Amino acid sequence: MKVTIDGQTIEVPEGTTILQAARMIVDNKEYAGDNIAPPTMCYYSKLKTSGGYCRSCLVKVNKGSEKDPRPMPKLVASCRTTVMDGMEVMNTTSPEVIEVRKGVVEFLLINHPLDCPICDQAGECHLQDLSYEHGLAKTRYDFKRRTFNLIDIGPYIKLHMTRCIMCFRCIKVADQLTDNRHQGMLFRGDVSEISTYISKAIDNDFSGNMIDVCPVGALTDRTWRFKSRVWFTKPMDAHRNCTKCAGKAHVWFKGDDILRVTGRKNKWREVEDWICNECRFEKKYVTDWVIEGPTHIDRHSVISANHYENLTSLKLDIAKQQKKLNKK
Ligand code: SF4
Ligand code: FES
Repeated sequence: MKVTIDGQTIEVPEGTTILQAARMIVDNKEYAGDNIAPPTMCYYSKLKTSGGYCRSCLVKVNKGSEKDPRPMPKLVASCRTTVMDGMEVMNTTSPEVIEVRKGVVEFLLINHPLDCPICDQAGECHLQDLSYEHGLAKTRYDFKRRTFNLIDIGPYIKLHMTRCIMCFRCIKVADQLTDNRHQGMLFRGDVSEISTYISKAIDNDFSGNMIDVCPVGALTDRTWRFKSRVWFTKPMDAHRNCTKCAGKAHVWFKGDDILRVTGRKNKWREVEDWICNECRFEKKYVTDWVIEGPTHIDRHSVISANHYENLTSLKLDIAKQQKKLNKK
């Protein structure tokens, strides 16, 4: 199937979505830009049936296909719309899409508190980035915002329901990665919430992955909360021999201490290999891990502000530290 997105043409297999095709164009080495791929707040390639909830990936199809070139009457969710041969799509080149995306961000922010100064997700929050790019500097919403009490989901995870944008990713993690799903979305409309039965999922070794897939600060790691702002830490690629998971992770240093462990994320901010709770929550000593080197951080991230990954002195420090540990 031949599809053109913002003037870039690519051939993709049947069944590919517009979003996947856009990501393929970005992944192609010859393509220099990266804004051709629509933003995603609910789609997650590793989670089946994700996508279709947030509408941040809306695009304009101005030619349906070679056979039927009529434009689609409404903007479509690119994560849920498969390409047709000869389809032509507009993302950043369409003023309508840009305008509608602003509206989507406004809706997502209706009930979302402006907690960024005290939220652990600040600096790596997808909604924060999306609102910088497309948001208004003010709100037009006059009604009472919904509020919830904080809930501890077992010893490791805190649910901050007020920040939730109902993306369903954590539900899909519970459904697809953990045995005996006990949680979901309760109620409808503006009273809907993630069920507290989620706490039953903590028995499972992979429940911590909910934290990694949450695009906002609604699910946070209780062993990391309030320890540091993320931009003061230095993420490293690390691995260990683990019998439950791939054992590949990012370990986040502050000084010589590991403050948190997360799954390794790719350029689309999606976890490459799910990690188990033991690696995530219980392995916080340098001796637990083989440190490979500084993590490459996407250039849009505030974490990359110091460009620390190019510091030769840091690489030497790691080598020295590991040598010392090996001697012990
Ligand atoms: S808690 Fe996070 S991952 Fe779960 S639905 Fe809300 S925003 Fe999505
Ligand atoms: S990413 Fe497509 S609707 Fe949310």
